[in-house]
Amino acid sequence: MSYSFGEGAPYNSAGGDPRGPVVSMRGISKSFGHVQALRNVDLDLYPGEVVALVGDNGAGKSTLVKILAGVHPQDAGTVTFEGRQVSIPSPAASRELGIATVFQDLALCDNLDVVANLFLGREVGGAVLDEETMERRSWELLRQLSARIPSVRMRAATLSGGQRQTVAIARSLIGDPRVVILDEPTAALGIAQTAEVLNLIELLRERGHCVVLISHNMADVQAVADRVIVLRLGRVNGRFRAPAMSYEDIIASITGVLNLEEGTPEDDIGERGSL
Ligand SMILES: Nc1ncnc2c1ncn2[C@@H]1O[C@H](COP(=O)(O)OP(=O)(O)OP(=O)(O)O)[C@@H](O)[C@H]1O
Ligand SMILES: [Mg+2]
Repeated sequence: MSYSFGEGAPYNSAGGDPRGPVVSMRGISKSFGHVQALRNVDLDLYPGEVVALVGDNGAGKSTLVKILAGVHPQDAGTVTFEGRQVSIPSPAASRELGIATVFQDLALCDNLDVVANLFLGREVGGAVLDEETMERRSWELLRQLSARIPSVRMRAATLSGGQRQTVAIARSLIGDPRVVILDEPTAALGIAQTAEVLNLIELLRERGHCVVLISHNMADVQAVADRVIVLRLGRVNGRFRAPAMSYEDIIASITGVLNLEEGTPEDDIGERGSL
């Protein structure tokens, strides 16, 4: 037996927009050869909320966000952006819609400085780049993010992990996206750097962006997520909402101990704080 949970508008103070979701994914399926990476996944994303996407290795998290990022087309299902059904055939199409994705490898150019990395591919100026404008805008952008970067003329190779993450997130914000997707942003970071990135995620939420956070770190997830969506073997196996969600239930949902498909009573799930 299979339960389906309608995704009503978030009812906590953070998140929730009477205008409805920015993104609605419905019935998304995707296979790679014999591997079914996603099966009939529904996901809504609202402005001003942090949605954590969690699940074991191979659960389908990256595949799901790559569909939004224009990396893979879905085999079945629909994506609606601001109420309009869209196809996202390329990363450029995704960015144009207003979806920014920061992939785990960040794709910073180590030999370029912070300014050049921020404006890579969208340099200001004609044949001669307007370095002054780009430098000023870089400072403004990083200041807005309360970033601690000593100089925008530092080469990316000399930045710490947290600083690199900040630059990658700052770059994603150029163009003012509605949705910012972060795939494992704290995986390689120390405690202080992780705290900085989590602060940055909260800042993005305050500014009205919808943040999708993929993470294996439950402490991070519980610190910032308004909602948690659990993927297991390509299906949604749990939906939880702060503050009612418990660490134990999320883990049980990830591992399959708590299994929606095998018929966890809906009332019971309600008590656990799921959708
Ligand atoms: N390009 C691809 N070609 C073939 N199989 C793929 C491809 N991308 C993903 N898969 C498979 O699809 C499944 C889901 O992978 P995905 O990368 O989405 O998982 P994930 O939840 O992001 O895992 P992780 O936590 O390890 O990053 C896995 O079985 C994976 O091997
Ligand atoms: Mg992944």
